[in-house]
Amino acid sequence: MPRKQDRLLRVGVLGCGPIAQAAHFESCTKAANAELYAICDVADDLRERMAATHAPRRTYADYDAMLADPDLEAVIIATSDAFHVPAARRALEAGKHVLCEKPLATSVEEAESLRAVVAASDKILQVGHMKRFDPGLEAAHDFIRDGMGEMVALKAWYCDSTHRYAATDAVQPLIVTSRNARKPSEDPKADLQRYYMLAHGSHLVDTARFFAGDIVAVDARFTHRGGMRCWFVDVEFANGVLGHLDLTVAVRMDWHEGFQIYGANGSVIGKTYNPWYYRSSEVDIFHEAEGGTRRVLGADGHFYRRQLEGFARAALDGAPLHGADIEDGVASVRAMVAIAQSARSGRPVALADAHGDV
Ligand SMILES: NC(=O)c1ccc[n+]([C@@H]2O[C@H](COP(=O)([O-])OP(=O)(O)OC[C@H]3O[C@@H](n4cnc5c(N)ncnc54)[C@H](O)[C@@H]3O)[C@@H](O)[C@H]2O)c1
Repeated sequence: MPRKQDRLLRVGVLGCGPIAQAAHFESCTKAANAELYAICDVADDLRERMAATHAPRRTYADYDAMLADPDLEAVIIATSDAFHVPAARRALEAGKHVLCEKPLATSVEEAESLRAVVAASDKILQVGHMKRFDPGLEAAHDFIRDGMGEMVALKAWYCDSTHRYAATDAVQPLIVTSRNARKPSEDPKADLQRYYMLAHGSHLVDTARFFAGDIVAVDARFTHRGGMRCWFVDVEFANGVLGHLDLTVAVRMDWHEGFQIYGANGSVIGKTYNPWYYRSSEVDIFHEAEGGTRRVLGADGHFYRRQLEGFARAALDGAPLHGADIEDGVASVRAMVAIAQSARSGRPVALADAHGDV
């Protein structure tokens, strides 16, 4: 493991649910520059069991009590989407840095309401688009910036697999649940079309934006047949790059996620794995001048820990934020809303006109 540094960011994790158990507790424990200082959950049984397993210094049933702890420096918000914005606002107002799970919000207005709060604080808000810390995607990003020349086109796909639970159950820690867990009044899975866009579309949109920049308009087609929900989206990027996104849940085969990028001086083809394997994407970067391909190994594929380390570097050392910031979080929500509206209306939607809920 990376050696612990002398100065560790004291992190509190809000929520002891599946994502905290599978990613964030371990990330805090393993991170070179952060520690699992506190955990918080209203569910006593879950919190106590997680405290026994992960040994934080403090435990809290009440979020405000955790935020009132003067030794707490940062919060990871690992709750249901509907709670992200209010929890992030309270943490920033309490003077804590925030790493908020994706998606930042479920509506454009809610996401935008955080802008002023971030601006008024001297704290960092990073959105948990952890794929930005996948070494394969980082290598592609570096090549796009330094070597590829003008980008022409990008295709990206995110196709969840019918076999995903067999795969994740085999590799994740046993996920403990509690009947006392706090859930939003409306079941997020009541509308699966909306839920898949928020849960999975948020990753796909952020990957596209990470590589090709701002999206200005989308033209989406949607079908629900054969038990699958499938969105094919033509994307107009601000820089003129042609884009196409495919979000399909769930394909009758293995997890299928990746991207293809064409540029003036080379091309990139990436294959991304189910995140719970912690395996870096296989990204082939073809350099036209060399007539050959390079691929980073990315032996350390723990992108959840790596995103926390990036966040802690920004919080402790003032390093530039490599992860998604408030503008990226807002833009992703806006893009998802635009895709959902375009799929419903059958017409292109400019992101500037996208309003309301996903
Ligand atoms: N980045 C990824 O790859 C990834 C993967 C899975 C889930 N997620 C995201 O993680 C988030 C959480 O997912 P989950 O399935 O773990 O959620 P969950 O709702 O199952 O668990 C959240 C926990 O937070 C607790 N909680 C909520 N509000 C609280 C409050 N105010 N005070 C104290 N405790 C509170 C609940 O009791 C619950 O135990 C979602 O936004 C989801 O989109 C991200």
